[in-house]
Amino acid sequence: MKLLNSLTLSLLAVAVVLPAAAARKTVIPVETENTQLVLVAQENGVLQTVHFGAKVSDPSAFASFRTGRGTDNGEGPMSYPATGGRYLGEPALHVKYADGYHNTELVYADHQVVANGNVVTTKILLKDPVTFLEVTLIFDAYRKENVICAHTGIRNSGKKAVQLLNYASGVLNLDADKYYLTHFHGGWADEMQMEGELLTHDTKVIESRRGTQVTQCNNPSFLVSLDADRLQENVGEVVAGALAWSGNFRLSFEMDESNRLTVLAGINPFASTYELAPGKFFTTPEFIYTYSGRGAGQASRNLHAWARNYGVYGGGQINPTLLNSWEGAYFTFTTETLLRMIDDAAAMGLEMFVLDDGWFAKDYPRNGDDAGLGDWEVNTAKIPEGIDYVASYAHQKGLKFGIWIEPEMVNPRSNLAHAHPEWVVQSPGREIYQSRNQWVLDLSNPAVQDFVYGIFDRTMQLAPNIDYIKWDCNRTVADFGSKYLGSEQDRFFVEYAQGIYNVMRRLRAKYPDTIVQCCSSGGGRVDYGALKYFNEIWTSDNTDAYTRAYIQYATNLVYPACVMASHVSAVPNHQTGNVTPLKFRFDMACSGRLGMELQPRNLSEGERALADRCIRSYRQYRDLVFTGDVYRLASPYDGDYYALMYVSQDQRRAVVFAYCLKYQNRAVGAHSFRLDGLDPARKYRVTELNVNRSSWWGSGEAHAGDFLMNGGFNPVLLKTFDSAVFYLEAD
Ligand code: DGJ
Repeated sequence: MKLLNSLTLSLLAVAVVLPAAAARKTVIPVETENTQLVLVAQENGVLQTVHFGAKVSDPSAFASFRTGRGTDNGEGPMSYPATGGRYLGEPALHVKYADGYHNTELVYADHQVVANGNVVTTKILLKDPVTFLEVTLIFDAYRKENVICAHTGIRNSGKKAVQLLNYASGVLNLDADKYYLTHFHGGWADEMQMEGELLTHDTKVIESRRGTQVTQCNNPSFLVSLDADRLQENVGEVVAGALAWSGNFRLSFEMDESNRLTVLAGINPFASTYELAPGKFFTTPEFIYTYSGRGAGQASRNLHAWARNYGVYGGGQINPTLLNSWEGAYFTFTTETLLRMIDDAAAMGLEMFVLDDGWFAKDYPRNGDDAGLGDWEVNTAKIPEGIDYVASYAHQKGLKFGIWIEPEMVNPRSNLAHAHPEWVVQSPGREIYQSRNQWVLDLSNPAVQDFVYGIFDRTMQLAPNIDYIKWDCNRTVADFGSKYLGSEQDRFFVEYAQGIYNVMRRLRAKYPDTIVQCCSSGGGRVDYGALKYFNEIWTSDNTDAYTRAYIQYATNLVYPACVMASHVSAVPNHQTGNVTPLKFRFDMACSGRLGMELQPRNLSEGERALADRCIRSYRQYRDLVFTGDVYRLASPYDGDYYALMYVSQDQRRAVVFAYCLKYQNRAVGAHSFRLDGLDPARKYRVTELNVNRSSWWGSGEAHAGDFLMNGGFNPVLLKTFDSAVFYLEAD
């Protein structure tokens, strides 16, 4: 029976008329310096991905590669599987045609390769000869960084509209005996908690359906360890990927009966059937991925290098240290409060002051989170002199000035809500639910996009030199609906996300140099789609240094340290109640973009002196945090320590951060950290920063790189929340 089935199928396959180009096999390698993706158009025109991993010298050898599995088990590792044909798994593409049929069978038509310096773009055109649907797979290979960004263009070349039910960005086809999946989950003030599992057969899905704040509970990123039971830092094969999309996303990991893993990443099809009119084209967001033969460490370094060079707005630039007013003043301040905070920030050697929530709205003053959102005029009861006065004061003190906005939202208690009820996300005849006392503005509507653009633009005019905008977004969308879209509600989620990008594109054309932070109740919008326009993320509203160890470790697996805003705040911590030493708080914040978020007046003289010292020393090594390569030395998820280091590209300088998270008794003694990424033959002078007495016996002396990397480095960090920062410079 089995034999008969496959025979029948192959006879049928012969009967299909194929375009000339598909008559023989075509091997299409997509290559970076060390990795290779090999796609082969088979004789029947089906495009398969037969390899992703370390480079082979002659990829044409893959022309004859066979999976050896029977065709009644589906059509091998298809590069962009569509519903229909012989494909049995979760499709990347699912189209419903005007006649009600769901079958799409894509065959290879053509491809082209264009090199532009470091980036080589391969475009592969696939066509369905029956429905005239055309799909172009686009791969940008970043050679030096060993990263591939894949996206897909879908064109309806038929005569009638079609419905795109699934339209993934890209597909990874992996082949191993087992797969350990690492991904990130969490909630408010607890984002990016690392979680992992050995995949079993069938499909594991990681997704968001929240519209906004899409990454607060799951992040569109992952690492898959091949043939391993856990994520390993320095050994083993790891494939890491991330979707560049700030809307609903879906990642699926399907292990089929042949033990092959198909990873699909794309826009979440949830309530988002996309209608494509004849002649129209849809472009998916990018799926970014990398392969490492040396564990998670190299995978992260690849992604970070790509992010700094291409993926993050202003990546590689060093952003200023700052004092943010939120946890120090919340909604309760006057001009005087702000000026004194600016004085203190300047005195401590910080470089910017950021005025957070609470500065706006007159008729419904923003004195709490229940009013004022939408009314973006200065609240002169609080700041009678205006923003210009405060900003100029900061500038006179040598500080940059930043300000907070939350342009996508509206409080029912606001003039905006009364003037434009039709702009609110809503569903006719139903209550519009509130969350944090607010509603969401409908960014699928171009008029709302103009309004949101205008909020940013007008805020920038409040003072001549506004250097930084903190863009916040404090709720999710659940009860979705758009008056503007009328009967086309399926477009809402996609067009909302595209709406933000439209606004950001326009803003970036006008304000290329403004530093813009992407905040969404903390880490609710942490993705490479947003980072094309934003310089940094507010990693989490959780500023507790202990909890941050877990959040920052996991965030930095995928996203580079240069985007990770990290602030020193007061104790007991406002979110967790934890009390940690000020030094521990600084040492944690200094491993990202350092800021402070407290009332400096509440610090004692001794604490002020320590703050001055930590801020000064950060400026000596922060280029390493922003542009160096990360090496993780100990994971907080493994137990007692968290340690990491950043090494300059020329391996001349490095900074090491080490944190003790759990009391070590004296019998345990000092823990040896194996430094990494150094030149084994060079000697490095090692200096512990911000202490009078070093925790390491070797501080102040020069040591060979191989000594430091082979267990000689063992600072005594025994008490819970002991921490240390070491600066290394080659002699
Ligand atoms: C949530 C943000 O994450 C905080 O940092 C702060 O800006 C508040 N919103 C202000 O409402």
